[in-house]
Amino acid sequence: MEFLEVFKGRRSIRSYKPDPVPRAVIDEILAEARWCPSWNNTQLWEVVVVQGDALEKFKSGQLEKLASQAPSEPHIPTPEKFPPKWHQRVMQVGISCLKAKGIGKEDHEKKNQYFQEMFTLFGAPVMLLFLLDEELNLPYGMMDIGIFMTGVSLIATAKGLGTLFLSTVIRYPDLLRTLFAIPENKKVVMGFAMGYPVESDPINRFERQRIAVEDFVTWME
Ligand SMILES: Cc1cc2nc3c(=O)[nH]c(=O)nc-3n(C[C@H](O)[C@H](O)[C@H](O)COP(=O)(O)O)c2cc1C
Repeated sequence: MEFLEVFKGRRSIRSYKPDPVPRAVIDEILAEARWCPSWNNTQLWEVVVVQGDALEKFKSGQLEKLASQAPSEPHIPTPEKFPPKWHQRVMQVGISCLKAKGIGKEDHEKKNQYFQEMFTLFGAPVMLLFLLDEELNLPYGMMDIGIFMTGVSLIATAKGLGTLFLSTVIRYPDLLRTLFAIPENKKVVMGFAMGYPVESDPINRFERQRIAVEDFVTWME
């Protein structure tokens, strides 16, 4: 695939085939992603790959947390409120997803089912967790991890895989620590789902929105 085809072809995948991703493929993606830039070449990302029984246990744990309405306590707090200018964009994604699923505004049962799907990675067979050591400068480290995750996501796309950055999987660090032996001195910065997309599913096909270039660029000449 051409680079720009991969770049623009990457999109959030919210419906996955159950087919496992061979370990060699995941290994290769991570090995290639090492060529991402990082501040002073610190390469401070740490990754936990979760699949098989370990992922099934996590999915059960997530559903228990959702059912008990456990409070979300991620190491990196999710923004709760957006100023109006940005709020509209936040709303748009949710509207597009629910519309693609044919879920009405007031259909609480189906909405709940949708959240269950999200909490269980939309059926993805692989979860990647991205960690940062507590000793490192968090804002700067997050920049490097963000760049690395983008690399992983694009390389995965080039190999025919789908990915989804998913703040929903880092809501309960206690669950992650218990199941995956993540030490106390590591912060779970973000996670994502990975697997083979169900190409025909409308949730993987709706038209995405982007702002115009002039809305975020200032030229000085
Ligand atoms: C840090 C981060 C966390 C995200 N968390 C979620 C999530 O919890 N659930 C979800 O459905 N999408 C999540 N997304 C996906 C975004 O909604 C998506 O990237 C955005 O709408 C742009 O769409 P695109 O990725 O298809 O281009 C997340 C994206 C990022 C970068």
